Amino acid sequence: MSEAREFAGFVRQQLRSDLRSLPARVRGFRAPEWRLNRANSLEDLRTMARASLPRAVFDFVDGAANDEVALARNRQDFQDLRIYPRVLVDVSSIDLTTSVLGMPIALPVIGAPTGLTGLAHHRGEIAVARALQAAGSLYVLSTMASYSIDEVAADAPGPKWFQLYVWKDRGLVTDMLQRAQAGAYQALVMTVDCARAGKRERDYRNGFSIPPRMTMRSLAGGMCHPRWSIEFVRHARFKLANMPVSDSAPEAVTLTRFNAQQFDASVTWETVEWVRERWGGPLVIKGIMDPADAAMATMAGADAVVVSNHGGRQFDDAPSSISALPAVVDAVAGSAEVYIDGGVRRGGDVLKALALGARACLVGRPFVFGLAVAGEAGVSRTIALLREELETAMALAGVTSMRDINASCLVGRQSVAERTVIRTGPIAQPSEDEFESERGHEHDRTGGR
Ligand SMILES: Cc1cc2nc3c(=O)[nH]c(=O)nc-3n(C[C@H](O)[C@H](O)[C@H](O)COP(=O)(O)O)c2cc1C
Repeated sequence: MSEAREFAGFVRQQLRSDLRSLPARVRGFRAPEWRLNRANSLEDLRTMARASLPRAVFDFVDGAANDEVALARNRQDFQDLRIYPRVLVDVSSIDLTTSVLGMPIALPVIGAPTGLTGLAHHRGEIAVARALQAAGSLYVLSTMASYSIDEVAADAPGPKWFQLYVWKDRGLVTDMLQRAQAGAYQALVMTVDCARAGKRERDYRNGFSIPPRMTMRSLAGGMCHPRWSIEFVRHARFKLANMPVSDSAPEAVTLTRFNAQQFDASVTWETVEWVRERWGGPLVIKGIMDPADAAMATMAGADAVVVSNHGGRQFDDAPSSISALPAVVDAVAGSAEVYIDGGVRRGGDVLKALALGARACLVGRPFVFGLAVAGEAGVSRTIALLREELETAMALAGVTSMRDINASCLVGRQSVAERTVIRTGPIAQPSEDEFESERGHEHDRTGGR
């Protein structure tokens, strides 16, 4: 009986305390931080972004070319890779630091260039850049950004690179390069996989155009997302800030047609040389998938390449970026750094990419989704989730720094003997001679196969 009274008292106390904190909790439900804390994965943030954005905007970010097979392949091929769990390694301290082009970064994750990011949130590229810089990393500003090269330089003064599309108007390209130099962008990322604009059918269906056209559908979308609509009206950022087209351009064109009008399909390796001469700083070539192109890129003087199928937004028949990575790493043979993007959604994916030879990963859509949910804080949450997951994956894989990550982490990539020697750490690590003899035993065991 006394137990029942005790229990009832306990419930009463809890109810009283819950009621007292109710007003604050109700206020909290509306706060972006509350929503962010409920996001336990990048997929959660994507789901929240879908609820926050009008359909045309969500689809513009989320969508890909044609049947979106390459988009799905990017994910599937990451998921199909497996990491060996390793045990009894001291993983009490994990170091995520590395460097790209000689610049130190706190984790091997960089913000990929994404155009028209101001559509997701009015602070757009500035918020993404600031969150990445605060996390000790850097952002690549797109040619197609909704904030200009100069605006981002002023409001996000930390490390950043500039991404270049080569337009038909070479005067405009030269002008952009000069502005990027003046804004202290440390490297140029030349995107080369857009000889033609990908056919993004979601954008067609939604009538996505530049500048935006008011249709019954877009009006309905706006009405269903009043918070986004109010922000959009107060701080409209639907413009290509680096391009001489404005919100008041007389004719709205679909994004695909806009790109077709502006992209120069005659760009070749000679153009890379032309750009390199005018830029003068570190050059990264983005959109390399074929090892032969990777070799050409190093001959053309690239300091780094990004293995990328543009997040599946261009060529739906392309392989996944992660499946293309090993051959590119071999072709480059250490003469340039190799980064990758496309489908990185978990910290474990970063480990997998590094194990296959990438130095860092670029991440595109997830930062835009984080931004849509809660501005700069949403991007920070996305980075924090990736960081936590990467640390956990490293701890369970028995590696404590970027130096320790190699092919031996991945199932099916190296022999037992090599994996044992590489991963056992200083105490158990055999001498060179023992290593050789272990390799000999392995050779005997496998009959030299
Ligand atoms: C909304 C959006 C806009 C993009 N705009 C550009 C761009 O302007 N320049 C560029 O080189 N890549 C652009 N990309 C491609 C990304 O840089 C990156 O290659 C891709 O998003 C990586 O795939 P992920 O989204 O799966 O991480 C864009 C991607 C998205 C989703």
